[in-house]
Amino acid sequence: MTPEHLDNLKKAAALKALEFIRDGMVVGLGTGSTAKHLLSALGEQVRAGMKLRGVPTSQETEALARESGIPLIDSDNRWEIDVAIDGADQVDPDFNLIKGGGGALLKEKIVSASANQFIVVIDYTKQVPMLGGSFPLPIEVIPFGWGSTVRDIEALTKSRVVLRERNGSPFKTEAGHLIVDVHIDRIDRPGELETALNLIPGVVETGLFVGRTNVLIIGTPQGVHTLHVPSK
Ligand code: A5P
Repeated sequence: MTPEHLDNLKKAAALKALEFIRDGMVVGLGTGSTAKHLLSALGEQVRAGMKLRGVPTSQETEALARESGIPLIDSDNRWEIDVAIDGADQVDPDFNLIKGGGGALLKEKIVSASANQFIVVIDYTKQVPMLGGSFPLPIEVIPFGWGSTVRDIEALTKSRVVLRERNGSPFKTEAGHLIVDVHIDRIDRPGELETALNLIPGVVETGLFVGRTNVLIIGTPQGVHTLHVPSK
């Protein structure tokens, strides 16, 4: 499967997500290549007369939404988001996710947590039997004392932890934090790991999204599948 084919599957899945958006809704707008397809399709809907307002999860998404003519809500607002739609890097059979490949995990988690419904859109290669392994877990950390924070993360996960860089310098998130990527072989209990990581001083947020997915839309070579996650 070429990158172009995979991108077509992401696009097909993103278009399916439009079915969850109704006139007048406030929509959380994810970040990444899948979300880009959603933004351009939503822009078309807005131009066709649909009234909606977006909450972007990154500056990149904000710029794309503005280009597409999607009205945005001020980030100081106390949001009432009807639906948030975003991609993911890995999805396990319980619909738990690893996100943050693009470094936007903090805003993505805040927006998904403020949404009545969280819709995850992926191509089928993101489905894994267990989180970890092929994709490192991103963790956003405070720059102050980050080496000590990494030592604690290594001790907890018994895994190699690598400071994310871009163009030879530490990658900075939009909030001014760092990202470290945890090369962990398998995440048996994502909920417990998320809780334990969040207890380490210096950890701002993790890329584990546990129990948050309401709908999973998967683009596959056989077509788009929509799975509704039973509420617990
Ligand atoms: C951004 O920080 C990420 O969480 C993305 O949502 C995730 O990496 C999925 O990206 P793609 O849609 O580009 O695969």
